[in-house]
Amino acid sequence: MSGLRFVASRGEALRGELRVPGDKSVSHRAIMLASLAEGRSTISGFLEGEDTLATAAAFRAMGVRIESAADGVKIVDGVGLHGLRAPAADLDCGNAGTGMRLLAGVLAGQSFDSQLIGDESLSRRPMRRVTEPLGRMGARILTTSAGTPPLCISGGQRLQGIHYSTPVASAQVKSAVLLAGLYATGETTVVEPHPTRDYTERMLQAFGWKVEHREGFARLTGGGQLTAREIEVPADFSSAAFFIVAASVIPGSELLLRDVGVHPRRTGLLSALTLMGADIQIENARQRQGEPIADVRVRSARLRGVAVPERLVADMIDEMPALFVAAALAEGDTIISGAAELRVKESDRIATMAAGLGRLGVSIEERPDGAVIRGGTLNGGVVESHADHRIAMSFAIAGQLSKNDVEILDCDNVATSFPGFDQLARQSGFGLVSSRA
Ligand code: S3P
Repeated sequence: MSGLRFVASRGEALRGELRVPGDKSVSHRAIMLASLAEGRSTISGFLEGEDTLATAAAFRAMGVRIESAADGVKIVDGVGLHGLRAPAADLDCGNAGTGMRLLAGVLAGQSFDSQLIGDESLSRRPMRRVTEPLGRMGARILTTSAGTPPLCISGGQRLQGIHYSTPVASAQVKSAVLLAGLYATGETTVVEPHPTRDYTERMLQAFGWKVEHREGFARLTGGGQLTAREIEVPADFSSAAFFIVAASVIPGSELLLRDVGVHPRRTGLLSALTLMGADIQIENARQRQGEPIADVRVRSARLRGVAVPERLVADMIDEMPALFVAAALAEGDTIISGAAELRVKESDRIATMAAGLGRLGVSIEERPDGAVIRGGTLNGGVVESHADHRIAMSFAIAGQLSKNDVEILDCDNVATSFPGFDQLARQSGFGLVSSRA
């Protein structure tokens, strides 16, 4: 496969401070709600990544004016809940599961037909988890026979509120149902088996919609309006995670990550690493627009293998690839279980990490819902990222402590969530060269 390739090799201890780009989950939602609001919203700290830019492009294609005032600043002239126009072409969500699943909820309530498409990876991902509950609300959405994209959404349906217990803990499923609930008659309730990130609930409230919610429960009533406002997006914990793990495992490191969103449903990695012996301090903890943010100071430490408690898994699902690398460099065995969801992310992250770490000489046993990883030394080698951004960045950490270079293939998708990762990594001390085949 052509495209971007990273060569990661031993660099220096990570030093200094940095701010990673804006939060992906918050940026998607900010564009969506600002587009559906009445009036002009300003979003700052927006993630200028391919995933969130695809969401912005989708709303532009439906008649919303979204202006880029500066890097990370978007000015959105909302058209109101019923002001979107039929797009002239398919809406391309690129690599973004969040974009597609949340958009499905919004589009289910429109008067016009639409079709959502995505890249190769997104085109393999399961969509019945959203089309099934949306169908129960009265939406008409077709998928392939395998339940994968494209999604063909028929407009003009009358939606009814539902009481839905999600079978998987998924903020995307919850959000799709709640967004459709804005257009439904009556109450829409979502109950989750494990609480997930509640950005949709909180941002709806911030735009003036009444939402009753607590951990694992959300309820709203259809019919109303959203009112424009300013949104400040915190730095993305999931992007900070690569530096948190890297500074933990690279001897002599001390790194400060600024303004990181430390929402408790996102920060399971901090608990897992602390159990492993990491030295991580939360400094300057504060609230910004109701969102907990903090500076995260990480010093290197000797890590030991642990059985990662299953209750942490949902709160660190996106950080698992980086944790696999931490485990490979820890002393002893790390056991990961209860993480079958990893198999339906941008790649099958259990299989991709097991194959890649195996290539680097790590002893790893793949299990249906996780893995057992024996810590030790890493050799170099060539690993496949399977076009998965988080896999590529995780192996860039592995390369910092491998005996020989780690060559990582197919890294273009790093730009979906973390544009500029390689420059920032080099600035902080990584040995990392990127080149195009
Ligand atoms: C997200 C929810 C999670 C997460 C994804 C972003 C969101 O997915 O893995 O990266 O913004 O709602 P699931 O809802 O599929 O667990």
